[in-house]
Amino acid sequence: MNNLSDKRSSGQKPNQLAITPLFPDLEPEVRRKVRLYKRIEHPIWTENKAHFIQQYLRYFVQVTKHGAYIDGFAGPQSYEHLDAWSAALVLESKPKWLRHFFLCEITRKGLKALENLVASQQEIRDKKGRKISRKIKIFPGDFNVKVDEILQPTNISQKEAAFCLLDQRTFECHWSTLQKLANYKTAPNNKIELLYFLGVGWLHRSLSGIRNVDKALKWWGQSNWRGLAKMKSASIAELVRQRFQDELGYNSVAAYPIFDRNEGNKIMYYMIHGSDHEEAPALMVRAHHNAVRARPPVQEYLNFPTNP
Ligand SMILES: C[S@@+](CC[C@H](N)C(=O)[O-])C[C@H]1O[C@@H](n2cnc3c(N)ncnc32)[C@H](O)[C@@H]1O
Repeated sequence: MNNLSDKRSSGQKPNQLAITPLFPDLEPEVRRKVRLYKRIEHPIWTENKAHFIQQYLRYFVQVTKHGAYIDGFAGPQSYEHLDAWSAALVLESKPKWLRHFFLCEITRKGLKALENLVASQQEIRDKKGRKISRKIKIFPGDFNVKVDEILQPTNISQKEAAFCLLDQRTFECHWSTLQKLANYKTAPNNKIELLYFLGVGWLHRSLSGIRNVDKALKWWGQSNWRGLAKMKSASIAELVRQRFQDELGYNSVAAYPIFDRNEGNKIMYYMIHGSDHEEAPALMVRAHHNAVRARPPVQEYLNFPTNP
């Protein structure tokens, strides 16, 4: 069991506390390059996160040339901003080499939006004009249950590159669901890549208000979840990052802070990315760079406050 202690290093500058090493296992030379991009001067904003995911998957398919996309919590976060909806951006992303989509959602409203999205997809053809088939399946219900239906050889083969977005609000994604996703592929195949959202911006409030102990237990997967309330957000993110490596067995795991300007530039989420693919860390760095490149000048964003 993890020791839930706050391992904050006293040598860090205040505005660096929120950033954990992105790719700690890389060779020092590669890590130096990677670190150029993880600086706090280049934040990802909440409204920008879907573009970041889209950008990453665009690079991902350029390496794999094929792939499956699982979105466990696929309904739109904001019905007013459907242009920042991950499922829609991934479906429209080019080249259209992702061929299999598994979209899960629990609410009726979210399902309706997904049905409309799927119905609006146009036929795609290759350079020779031949029709390319894409399979898009919607799974109504709780992803923690539906994951068993999705993880079947008839849906995703061992050889198919697969990516799973877990954009939960707080406690919706069970740890056992992460284990199922991580264990689905067997060596030497790469595990399903995970992009997991850890909602630290409201986590302490949610933990203190929790009535349903079972909910927290299923989310954290260990009985020591109460200890999180005493930890800083950055330390919790580092702990989850470490658990992705040690318990789920991912070769490289990175934690990206995502900021919200409306909340005073506070860190709202950490995106935890777990991958076995040797090129994944470099692709993430490129995606991150591109996703933030179009943002207004850097000076505006200096001196971020750290989370509680
Ligand atoms: C944060 S939103 C997802 C945002 C989306 N990725 C976007 O880019 O806009 C979470 C979604 O998951 C749905 N949801 C919540 N609990 C769920 C569960 N157990 N299984 C499946 N979907 C769930 C919510 O209804 C909501 O539509």
